[in-house]
Amino acid sequence: MHLGICYYPEHWPRERWPIDAQLMQQAGLTYVRIAEFAWQRMEPAEGAFDWDWLDEAIAVLSDAGLQVILGTPTAAPPAWLTHAYPEVCAVDAEGRAQAHGARRHYCFTQPTYHRHTERIVSALAERYGHHPAVVGWQIDNEFGCHDTVYCYCDSCAAAFRDWLRARYQTLDALNAAWGTVFWSQTYTAWEQIPLPHRAPAYPNPSHALDYIRFASDAVVAYQQRQLDILRSHIAPTHFVTHNLLGKYPEINGYDLARPLDFICWDSYPTGYAEFAAGDFDGALYGSDDAPGPWAYDLGDPYVTGFCHALTYGFKQHPFWVMEQQIGQVNWARYNPGVRPGALRLWTWHAAAAGADAVVYFRWRACRFAQEQYHSGLLHHDSNLDTGYDELLALQDEREPLAALTAAPVTAQVALLFDYDDWWALRLQPHHRDYDYLREHFRYYRALTQLGLTVALLPYEADLSAYPLVIAPSAHIGTEERAARLTAYVEQGGALLLGARSGFKTPENLVTADPLPGPFRALVGATVVAWHSLPPGASYGLRSLGPNLTGMATGWAECLAPSAPQTETLVAYSDGPWEGYAALTRQPLGNGQALYLGWRPTLEQTRALLIYLARGCSLERGPQLPEGLVALQRGEQRLVFNFTDQPQRFTHAGRQLTVAPRDFISLSRAGDAYANVTPAL
Ligand code: GAL
Repeated sequence: MHLGICYYPEHWPRERWPIDAQLMQQAGLTYVRIAEFAWQRMEPAEGAFDWDWLDEAIAVLSDAGLQVILGTPTAAPPAWLTHAYPEVCAVDAEGRAQAHGARRHYCFTQPTYHRHTERIVSALAERYGHHPAVVGWQIDNEFGCHDTVYCYCDSCAAAFRDWLRARYQTLDALNAAWGTVFWSQTYTAWEQIPLPHRAPAYPNPSHALDYIRFASDAVVAYQQRQLDILRSHIAPTHFVTHNLLGKYPEINGYDLARPLDFICWDSYPTGYAEFAAGDFDGALYGSDDAPGPWAYDLGDPYVTGFCHALTYGFKQHPFWVMEQQIGQVNWARYNPGVRPGALRLWTWHAAAAGADAVVYFRWRACRFAQEQYHSGLLHHDSNLDTGYDELLALQDEREPLAALTAAPVTAQVALLFDYDDWWALRLQPHHRDYDYLREHFRYYRALTQLGLTVALLPYEADLSAYPLVIAPSAHIGTEERAARLTAYVEQGGALLLGARSGFKTPENLVTADPLPGPFRALVGATVVAWHSLPPGASYGLRSLGPNLTGMATGWAECLAPSAPQTETLVAYSDGPWEGYAALTRQPLGNGQALYLGWRPTLEQTRALLIYLARGCSLERGPQLPEGLVALQRGEQRLVFNFTDQPQRFTHAGRQLTVAPRDFISLSRAGDAYANVTPAL
């Protein structure tokens, strides 16, 4: 496994570079990512390039044995550019152009910006595409960071119409697909079609979903422009990647990752944990359940693990963490400092979840500009910070780390995750707490708690290796999806479809068929009614199969078996649908398809999964106390303690203890890298 560092030579005097490079080398770092925000230093005026500093920086790093990952600098267009060509700046939903002074202020569809992008990326690739010290490229930086995917400029309006023309060919087709007869929205010329942001009421969901798809496609197309240039100049051995934000809703991660050699994400566990609970978009817990007893400075392993799993699923291939937190961040609400153990724990946790390399952010804390309060491996004053000492200690574990990352990533259960489903439900949640991502997260958490391994996958993935597949909400139903899932079940798989499945068509219209639309024959049940349940409202449940208690809350659907062999596993015990089914199961071919008609709580999800795991003969890991999580890669199952206290559990008849901020390997408990970090 390779370890690396994000470095900004342009932030420091040249005399310092060799000292830094030497210290990096001594800490066992092999990769150094540079230059992703340095456009102005590369091209101080239009067409006038200055490569001296970058040549020298690369030479200094290379002399210390480091290999360089070059970032294309397009996340930070220089002031001369935005001043001379103000049209490149994105326009927000209120019609205001973004100003210079930070980053990511550009529009993805703007032709002038494309021209400048092509010039700087070509120049960079021509110069360093065959440089012996360069091993790979990162395109731009965190597309979408600071919520910058949606732009409402004239260029986007025109590009959106082109996108619609390509999709629908005729206005008649578009009008039919969007149901524009409603409220007299019918379009009789392409130019009439607006971007869906300034209308007084909420937008037409078909119009809005197409805009969301278009905006994601625009980012992917912008990346492709850069990719084409890079591929035509760089050595075939160089990799090209991008560093995504974890769980970011506005870009289809599968589409973005597809043309890249591998995908990366930027992991900031304490920052992400701070935003995991609460009443806002993207909070993985929301108001559902309180997060566990984590040490304040380690983040939440479910949240971090979920983002790792999501990123793995984008290519179903090991990924990199291109920015790994090492100390406090500067952008959350509390930004705690971290103690010894954190860097090591996060590194191993990432490796066990499918990371092949971890690149730490950042080398040295910066004295100026936006990120003054952000930590580095070195303090502002250049003294070594906690993270650096930990890296030195990690040197002794490089061999077992490499052995772990040499092993394949496998999982027992697949959770189907799809952007169209997510986007359609974000547009019309119909219940203020209904959140597609949160539904997935609850399953991920329950599965992990039960010691079952899980992969987040697209519908198109080969599911044959997974005995159990769960679609928490296969919201958009298509015949093709139904056929694939039916084939999976007939060949022996167990499928659980959750509530709200098959409700919509790809056009974001409600299906014209009885619910769950195209999945009805597959599950052998019909949804005859559905209710959104406000806080305080609930329907009783009586289980005939899983050992499950509690009520249906949040969302409930009334099911009627509609195939001869369909059985009722859970029924409503009171309320308007007393006696009707809430969970059904149909045996089909060599497998079985279940339909779950309510939104389960965490406890109910666990009970359901225990029942399903038993039915699928899935082997579960040991029962772990709250605060411990297990991940498996290859043959190794590692148990991580994200709490402040030593934790005990029993495995194979043995009492095992995991120190705080530490982990043990179940296959090698008691020796090797068990409990080596002092608890401070
Ligand atoms: C990331 C970004 C970095 C830096 C970091 C601070 O989102 O890619 O450039 O800003 O956050 O935590």
